Amino acid sequence: MLKQQHDLSQANTMALACMADTVVTLTDEAQLDDFMAYYRDNDEQAPLFVLSGGSNVLLPATLQATVLQPHMRGIHLLEHTDDYVDIEVMAGENWHELVLYTISQGWYGLENLALIPGLTGAAPVQNIGAYGVQLDDCLQYVRAYHLPSNTWHQLTASDCQFGYRDSMFKRAPNTWLISRVGLRLHKDATRILASYGDVQSVAQRYAEQDGRQQPMPADVMQAIIDIRQQKLPDPKQLPNCGSFFQNPIINQSQFTALQVSFPNIVGYPMPDSMVKVAAGWLIEQAGLKGGGIAPIMTHTQQALVLTNHAPFMATQEDVAAAQDYIANCVYEKFAITIMREPVWVQADATIGLGNHAI
Ligand code: EPU
Repeated sequence: MLKQQHDLSQANTMALACMADTVVTLTDEAQLDDFMAYYRDNDEQAPLFVLSGGSNVLLPATLQATVLQPHMRGIHLLEHTDDYVDIEVMAGENWHELVLYTISQGWYGLENLALIPGLTGAAPVQNIGAYGVQLDDCLQYVRAYHLPSNTWHQLTASDCQFGYRDSMFKRAPNTWLISRVGLRLHKDATRILASYGDVQSVAQRYAEQDGRQQPMPADVMQAIIDIRQQKLPDPKQLPNCGSFFQNPIINQSQFTALQVSFPNIVGYPMPDSMVKVAAGWLIEQAGLKGGGIAPIMTHTQQALVLTNHAPFMATQEDVAAAQDYIANCVYEKFAITIMREPVWVQADATIGLGNHAI
């Protein structure tokens, strides 16, 4: 389905005002082949931009591009053994509903990734991760269309070059349209990962309420849903795009030096003598929990999340003002540069790099 001059302010969870020249919604892969044949033959020079669930993008007020929305649906069971299942999930499936469905089937591995907004096709782009689990722990392959060469590819997990909130898709914007994701999920109900924060104790409570001694994956999922609902705003009620900044990774000696002045600084050891510092803590200590530049303010329960208090009216410029202000305050206090996580889309659909809007 092709729409001209289409309002995307409801199609991004930050609820930024955005009017796009053309939007093409795809409900099967053949439609993409057909559209691309038409696009090539029409000397049409409008750049292409792929928009999934809109939960990790910052859109411009005017987007002079052809926006492709992969909305293909379906969850297919490929292989079933005593130990695991292989499933293939179409890009347009809602991620959280997928997590609920797999757990209800007794297929485990996604329970820690409950309540992450967005659609499945975008999950590999930033290698979604939460509570000690990342998508690449269970991802087998990605089927994707390479827009510059008009060819379909089946990419292995190593082809995707996953990292912390990173992949080759993220590093090559406007290049790939992901249509399917292949996952291997396990069936061992005793295997859980609950070491992060309060997850173990909340999951334990759910297990005991149900007369069991040990938490199962469904208990972990319920615990994570509770924890996220307490800390993270529901985009439908208070527009946001999740973590706005990445947790910066600094070297151990810099971290040790900071500990002298800030004994409570929160950091997690990483390989190669590096430390991942909690950006939410840095922002809170800079006095900005609940602060910002109106209407873009940090969330009162989790300073890493920026929220939009003027839905459908605030623009990217408002976000830039708040982002720069917060990043500068953190830098002045800690000499650490915190970097934006969501994708900054410019009017011509090119992607803004680093923290800069241009
Ligand atoms: N903290 C503060 N003040 C704050 C926020 C956090 O002091 O305002 C401290 C917490 O007390 C805790 C530490 O910072 O000691 C870490 O906080 P939290 O557990 O909330 O996790 P995070 O590092 O802030 C990351 C992900 C989240 C993910 C959680 C749980 C990034 C950029 N963000 O947040 O992802 O849900 O871990 O795994 O890595 C998202 O992507 O939208 C998202 C929410």
